[in-house]
Amino acid sequence: MRKPVIAGNWKMYKTISESVETAIALKPLVANANHCEVVIAPVFTSLKTVADRLEGSNIKIAGQNCAPEKEEGALTGEVSPVMLRDAGASLVIIGHSERRQFFAETDGMVNRKVKAAVTSDLTVILCMGETLEQRDKGQAEQVVRGQLEGGLNGLTASDMSRIIIAYEPVWAIGTGRTATPEQAQEMHAFIRRVFAQRHSEDAAQDLRILYGGSVKPDNIAGLMKQTDIDGALVGGASLKAESFGEIVNYKR
Ligand code: PGA
Repeated sequence: MRKPVIAGNWKMYKTISESVETAIALKPLVANANHCEVVIAPVFTSLKTVADRLEGSNIKIAGQNCAPEKEEGALTGEVSPVMLRDAGASLVIIGHSERRQFFAETDGMVNRKVKAAVTSDLTVILCMGETLEQRDKGQAEQVVRGQLEGGLNGLTASDMSRIIIAYEPVWAIGTGRTATPEQAQEMHAFIRRVFAQRHSEDAAQDLRILYGGSVKPDNIAGLMKQTDIDGALVGGASLKAESFGEIVNYKR
């Protein structure tokens, strides 16, 4: 059985005090959520404070990005996987479409980050997804296959237990236009098949594949009913404790 993961990506929102306020409000709302893993990804500056305030709770902390080098180095402006762990994170989001789009992250760079993160004992939420133009041209599967194979290139079988995939069609992110549960299911099943071919059937059966893109309290249950949807990566609707709490406690 794959344990679902519901992760909130706070993007570049919230000061330290706002982050703490949301985290503290969220804590009791999800305290009984044993059916899934609950994750939030605050900005780097809030990470340590939020992690400290949530110690002993069932909420895990993720970074939103990391350096392609494990420990330290002359890389101005970067934060390493080891530093993320040090600040209290146990996961990291890598290859989000906003990083690919606005910061020119290639599959090669994403792959270096994934390797640095898994060797630092972080669990990676590796994001992928096609643009509307690519979908309209019938290239969605080819694009996602490229991002999956490129992102995981050279990883070992034992690294796979540290990988979570997030399928986030770019046209559904922040647009209010969610993929239908059927559209998402189709791509999730495809990702699982490609993963099985590249790695093993067992690893593919254990792989958690999250859906992301305009997930809200009113569409989460329909998405979660799909066989290959194992959770969600939530942006906008994770910024308020109440709506994220509702998503975590989706109707089962
Ligand atoms: P959204 O963002 O839920 O606001 O569409 C999802 C994401 O970017 O991870």
